[in-house]
Amino acid sequence: MTERIAPAERLEGALRLPGDKSISHRYALLAAIAEGASRIHNYSSGADCASTLACLRALGIGVERDGAEVAISGCGLDGLKAPAGTLDAGNSGSTIRMLSGILAAQAFFSRITGDESLSRRPMDRIMRPLAGMGASISARDDRYPPLEIRPARLQAIDYTLPVASAQVKTCVLLAGLYAEGTTTVREPARTRDHTEIALREFGADIDVRGRAITLRGRPHLAARDLAVPGDLSSAAFFLVAALLVPHSHLLIEQVGLNPTRSALLDFLVSVGADIRVPDPAFQAGEAVGAVEVRHSKVRGGVIEKDLTAALIDEIPVLAVLGAASEEGLTVRDAAELRVKETDRIATVAENLKRMGVQVEVFADGFRVSGGQRFRAAELDSFGDHRIAMAFAVAALAAEGESVIHGAEAASVSFPEFFGLLAALRART
Ligand code: S3P
Repeated sequence: MTERIAPAERLEGALRLPGDKSISHRYALLAAIAEGASRIHNYSSGADCASTLACLRALGIGVERDGAEVAISGCGLDGLKAPAGTLDAGNSGSTIRMLSGILAAQAFFSRITGDESLSRRPMDRIMRPLAGMGASISARDDRYPPLEIRPARLQAIDYTLPVASAQVKTCVLLAGLYAEGTTTVREPARTRDHTEIALREFGADIDVRGRAITLRGRPHLAARDLAVPGDLSSAAFFLVAALLVPHSHLLIEQVGLNPTRSALLDFLVSVGADIRVPDPAFQAGEAVGAVEVRHSKVRGGVIEKDLTAALIDEIPVLAVLGAASEEGLTVRDAAELRVKETDRIATVAENLKRMGVQVEVFADGFRVSGGQRFRAAELDSFGDHRIAMAFAVAALAAEGESVIHGAEAASVSFPEFFGLLAALRART
């Protein structure tokens, strides 16, 4: 699917976003292994979270879905059934990595794979700690999907993550639910803590001290009724769009403001963005509130070290903002971007170049200088949802109509994106 994006004169309006992708996956997984019927409201509309539900159904879980409302009949820790065929995680790294933590502890064989992009993403990062817990998993070239997971009994582990990854942390903690004794995961940099919060909500015995998370195995998880906050990573595209397009003013309501995600807002404010965030409310341990943004000039800056880990999903759209900022943007310590849905250092640089924007690429990041103009161009999502949306935002500030090929990729996390964008500009 191709989207044509004309430059925008103004973006104006109030919007609510579909549920956070990260939180939706976690609520679904935990509801499946809790005892009793859970309800999840405002479940993510993205294809990735639908992949998680499809895998759970294939494991014998009752899942009923009516739009954003999902009902899950939990079967307890030991009630999953052997799937009839290969489990399909689609494009979703979260699904394959997190669900594997649960599959590794089952008394049945399972095989899990995904689409072409997912089949090129590294899984050794979960295989190593799971093997340390006694799991039996093999992979193509010892590293890539499909994963074949044989029955095993897991032991608790004390594991220090070599890379900051919330997916790996979650995988080990979910496996730790099945192990006798206490599992500890230590993080090199703080990553999103939705798993820790959700585990507590479902009744697990979990303790967080600094960057060490400790979980006692074999808890009784109890079903819950939970609402998912709007996705701040989806909001990021509208925040940057409003900053770029003159006279814009947007109010994004009921969005997740978890401190391990809201580094985005702090960063934007620190570089001069006119963004207002009231004190958050709390919903099942997750901070939620409205974010108001007005068009503003931003200085630009440097994203490196722990900040890179905290902003990892937002870097494509921040690169776009960087080109239009006063001083430009430097991103370092971001080698992880190379193993996302695409090599995001390469795909961001390619689309920027097509728009006539100068970019210098490093092994672990890039630098875009500021004060650049976007030329209208033929852009490509390269099959990556965040690349499709980041460059739709760039196209709003271009000098003429741009085309985005493969725009349907946006539906992996945010199928409503192009429609919402059109509605915000229709009011100008
Ligand atoms: C996610 C963690 C991050 C992020 C991904 C979602 C999660 O991946 O990029 O979009 O929900 O835990 P890594 O764990 O690979 O950093």
